[in-house]
Amino acid sequence: MVASRRGSGTLTLPSGQTLAYHTRTHDEEGLPHATKKTMADHLRRLESLFTLTPQRMRMIVEAFKEALETGLEKNDQVVPMIPTYVFGWPTSKEQGDFLALDLGGTNLRVCLVTVQGNGQFELTQSKYRLTEEQKQDDGQKLFDFCAECLKTFIESNFSGENEVKAPAKLPLGFTFSYPCSQAKIDHGVLIRWTKGFGAPNTEGNDVAAMFRKSLEKYQLPVTLTALINDTTGTLLASHYVNPKTKIAVIFGTGCNAAYMERVENIPKISKLGIDPSSEMAINCEWGAFDSFEHEHLPRTKYDTIVDESSNKPGEQAFEKLISGRYLGEILRLVICELIDDGVLFLGQNTYKLEVAYCFDTAFLSLMESDPTDELLMIIGIFSHFFAVETTLAERQFFRALAKLIGKRAARLSACGIAAIVSKMGYLDEGCLVGADGSLYNKYPGFPDRVHEGLVDIFGDKGRNILTCRAEDGSGVGSAIIAAMTKVRKDAGIYPDL
Ligand code: BGC
Repeated sequence: MVASRRGSGTLTLPSGQTLAYHTRTHDEEGLPHATKKTMADHLRRLESLFTLTPQRMRMIVEAFKEALETGLEKNDQVVPMIPTYVFGWPTSKEQGDFLALDLGGTNLRVCLVTVQGNGQFELTQSKYRLTEEQKQDDGQKLFDFCAECLKTFIESNFSGENEVKAPAKLPLGFTFSYPCSQAKIDHGVLIRWTKGFGAPNTEGNDVAAMFRKSLEKYQLPVTLTALINDTTGTLLASHYVNPKTKIAVIFGTGCNAAYMERVENIPKISKLGIDPSSEMAINCEWGAFDSFEHEHLPRTKYDTIVDESSNKPGEQAFEKLISGRYLGEILRLVICELIDDGVLFLGQNTYKLEVAYCFDTAFLSLMESDPTDELLMIIGIFSHFFAVETTLAERQFFRALAKLIGKRAARLSACGIAAIVSKMGYLDEGCLVGADGSLYNKYPGFPDRVHEGLVDIFGDKGRNILTCRAEDGSGVGSAIIAAMTKVRKDAGIYPDL
């Protein structure tokens, strides 16, 4: 049964943090922040802005498919469709100990993965938090920090009997989840930073070479075997444990997809002489879809503000409507507009809500999943983090708004998946889509909304496409790719394809 509490008390968030709440209603206070009618009017307006009809979704899918094809044909396209030089699926026979270093959007992670074959593995890992300063500091310093963390990890995991003896070198898969154009698997030129990173002296450079320099500086007994995108790692790791997986997607701080393509369908690398019947993983970098021209996606004025005030205006147009880095900010901008219009929080000091990116996307998840009639979680969020009191009508409005924004993100995600499915002809036989990232794993109902979106696009056949929680692509996937690369190297087909 749902609890309905009045008065004051405390509430525990899923994180374990305790929030104080105090309920307040129009009747009790005689001080309505806004009439119900005004709120309903605004909600209707926002509903029409944020809702995606099945017809609109199908149009997006068509444009998306075209962008995928163009990216495979020519270099330097909006959706770059990056050849990864990861050839085909794992055999399930790969084995050995591999290090994986994962530089994602929020954390730095170091893993030791023992790949045991037959879909089995063991993993030991340490996580290090990246500060906002590090994301904007000189690129070489960032890689030095990665090497330093790796050093600490090796020292604590390889001491005593396990000590790495020269000249033995541990193979390392480096998961670097930003768009890099690759000419071979252990090389990658950063096209652009995404997810709020801006470290100077990195874009346009080979990040693998930069990281090797840091490895040398710290004299680490490590060989950088493969540079990997998190989606490619997720694709391979998910296929390793379930071969029905054909596509991998990340819905986290950033958003992207990878899939396996036949080399004959990648015209832009036709001159390299690779066997056309072989397969190569493609890192789509689909977060860039519809960037610059903004022709196809339903951008609201709030999305335009998010884009224009970001460190990369015009870029990552699709990602900015979907990923965890931006959803909280979109909601905050709607709230700020209604504060300016005198609709919300009349007479209260709202300065805490006026700080860009102060409204975490995790709050949207919490608001949508608040199980109480009084919406106590929402009371707690606004009073604890932003020092404002809310009426029940406002809280219902916030929850409805979170739902609109979260649902639009999921339905747009379905459009991206549908574009790959339709391009590859996977609809009739069906396939699994390995999915990872905080939005997919933690946002209530996100996977169901993606599935509903697929049915809206494809009709009943859309049910043949199922997303499922992926294996850890950045750790396990990275290790599997390092293992596959080692096999190729030992067979003498490395590094010249
Ligand atoms: C990056 C991708 C990455 C995705 C998910 C995006 O911002 O451009 O390379 O796969 O985030 O982490």
